[in-house]
Amino acid sequence: EGVRVRVPASTANLGPGFDSLGLALSLYTWIEMRAAKDRTEFHYYGEQLADKGLPTDKTNLVYKVAQQVFRKAGVNVPELEVSMYSDVPLTRGLGSSASTIVGALTAANALIGSPLSTDDLFQMASAMEKHPDNVGASLFGGLAVAFWDGERAECIKVEPHPRLEALVAIPRFQLSTEKARNVLPKELSMKDAVFNVGHSNVLVAALCTGRLEMIRHAMQDALHQPYRASLVPGMAEILRDAPEHGALGIALSGAGPTMFALVDRESGRKEELEQFLHKSFGAAGIEADTLWLM
Ligand code: HSE
Repeated sequence: EGVRVRVPASTANLGPGFDSLGLALSLYTWIEMRAAKDRTEFHYYGEQLADKGLPTDKTNLVYKVAQQVFRKAGVNVPELEVSMYSDVPLTRGLGSSASTIVGALTAANALIGSPLSTDDLFQMASAMEKHPDNVGASLFGGLAVAFWDGERAECIKVEPHPRLEALVAIPRFQLSTEKARNVLPKELSMKDAVFNVGHSNVLVAALCTGRLEMIRHAMQDALHQPYRASLVPGMAEILRDAPEHGALGIALSGAGPTMFALVDRESGRKEELEQFLHKSFGAAGIEADTLWLM
């Protein structure tokens, strides 16, 4: 009678694609949901979630999101028993909140026989997050090329080139998306806007066509990374130098502080890049954990 869903984490922006590109990563959150008889209960497992003081009552994000699904479908499921396990570190720029929202939406919808379409769920998730990049990747998988205009979200899923592999370096400190959005300017010059449109377009085309040598040029950004660099020690140097150490391209992962590199799995330079990231963060006084994903 219960359902279980597995949702991937994601990296958003990929440099220039602010709020519009997301890539699913092979790092997952599991949500198990069933209707409960008497009262709502939450159980958390795994080192990312257990004993973290997360809410176990109806203020829980999963509960609230699930109730939106039930309301939209006209179904009444007042009490839920939910178990959650996750390998996704929280508030590091790996889309943990988006994967939780997508997991709650898909589990709740499956629990009542899937009356809502995947597009319904995508619209709801985008409106909750106010940007469709992480939720698009978590919901559809692969590379999500998306926009949300305040009313409607659209997404085209692209399969990433099979030679691409992702390396993330996850600093051992948290950075809230809110804080990382508050340092962004309210207005942007035409020059910087044109810079980003061009680079983001070429990046998507390079990823679609497998022009891997183009990625390092295209993964440049003038919209958010220059402003966020002050929040992540070592970030500016890493962005500048990683392509010399085996990265096809490098970007801040979502709102940070994680750094995300694309790597050619046949390059033979994986170890060099991993060492470079540890060394650069270390020189800035930051401890970071690296993971190969995708
Ligand atoms: N596009 C979002 C941002 C992703 O960069 O703020 C983080 O939630």
